[in-house]
Amino acid sequence: MRAAVLPEFEAPLVLEELELLPPGPRDVVVRPGAVEVCVTDSYATRPGPLSRPPAILGHSAAGVVEAVGSAVTTVAPGDRVLVAGTPACGDCFWCRRGEGHQCREIFEGGVRHVARRADGTLVSAAGGVGTYAEQLLVREYGVVRMDTTLPDEHLCLLSCGAASALGAVFGIARVGLGDTVAVLGAGRIGGWLLQAARLAGAVRVVAVEPLPERRKRAAALGASDVLDPADGDVVEQVRDLTGGRGVDAAFEATGGPGTAAAVRTAFAATRRGGVVVPLGMTDFGVTVDLPVNDLAMRGREVRSCQYGNVDLQRDLPRYARVLESGLLDPVAMVERTYPLPDAGSALAAAEDREVLTAVLLPNSD
Ligand SMILES: NC(=O)c1ccc[n+]([C@@H]2O[C@H](COP(=O)([O-])OP(=O)(O)OC[C@H]3O[C@@H](n4cnc5c(N)ncnc54)[C@H](O)[C@@H]3O)[C@@H](O)[C@H]2O)c1
Ligand SMILES: [Zn+2]
Ligand SMILES: [Zn+2]
Repeated sequence: MRAAVLPEFEAPLVLEELELLPPGPRDVVVRPGAVEVCVTDSYATRPGPLSRPPAILGHSAAGVVEAVGSAVTTVAPGDRVLVAGTPACGDCFWCRRGEGHQCREIFEGGVRHVARRADGTLVSAAGGVGTYAEQLLVREYGVVRMDTTLPDEHLCLLSCGAASALGAVFGIARVGLGDTVAVLGAGRIGGWLLQAARLAGAVRVVAVEPLPERRKRAAALGASDVLDPADGDVVEQVRDLTGGRGVDAAFEATGGPGTAAAVRTAFAATRRGGVVVPLGMTDFGVTVDLPVNDLAMRGREVRSCQYGNVDLQRDLPRYARVLESGLLDPVAMVERTYPLPDAGSALAAAEDREVLTAVLLPNSD
């Protein structure tokens, strides 16, 4: 099978012919139909804990089960599945507390080898998933059987963008009817956050975005107000739009070098008792200063979001039904599809913000 491999840190992806390793007792072999490209995959190209080259990048896929290990019970060959952005083993300290988003396998699972080169070198899967490939070797507890009419190009969005945003809005911030919301960064995640906030019944949804094209799109996706951060003080403008109080919930979805500043802005834009959900990722070790007395006395909460803190088996099928029902629009989110040999260009397009969502079709060419 072919895969787009990161041969070493900071090197371009290379299309390689590899042999998939045989499935262990609780492994599943999936043939992916579509893979959502996420800018987090580009962080995995740099030195850090997200990958160990040579590695197959990617943490999203919708596809069909081809084979299962001897102890697999929840899926069978022929089943349509979603490969979750992060797995939940169901058996560790965190999973047993209902916090599968912090599963030991995500943070302490070690390197997972999934394929072999002709010379015998083992190839790992970034984040233990590695979806930029024609065949995937994934863990049973990292896939969810999906009975859905959604095409793979839309279903795969639940491996990352759509599920992270739905989880952030409904599960983490618990946005409700009549609430006010700010979304910093109207990119791929921001686009889903805007849609989800409207669906939750937020009456004021303020998008903050420097790129003009994306500001236009933000309005189309449900923002009631759209701000350019270059155009005056964002916090002041958000307060003006919310009776001087600030928003009930602010979502930071920028990522990259400006993330810490954006988290501070999001925090300052909330009302007393408001919630901040920082989604954006940046280099490990980057810190953010927040006013201690606001944390101590003013009720402002910062709530972590790892893949929307979703419960895979509970949330992903119901999110799929939300997409099927037309309550959210996946069509507006997918801007371009790419065959597997163009995985590097797809990742660059996501990184350079050329397309809102790039989707790989690993078995299309
Ligand atoms: N925590 C999670 O569950 C989760 C899930 C998926 C992705 N992510 C992370 O979320 C981040 C965003 O991902 P994405 O795919 O939407 O990226 P993206 O590049 O499509 O979107 C980011 C947007 O932020 C805008 N932006 C930059 N600086 C800004 C500022 N100062 N104020 C307002 N907007 C600004 C950019 O122009 C861009 O449109 C990444 O860091 C990604 O790794 C987190
Ligand atoms: Zn992602
Ligand atoms: Zn676990």
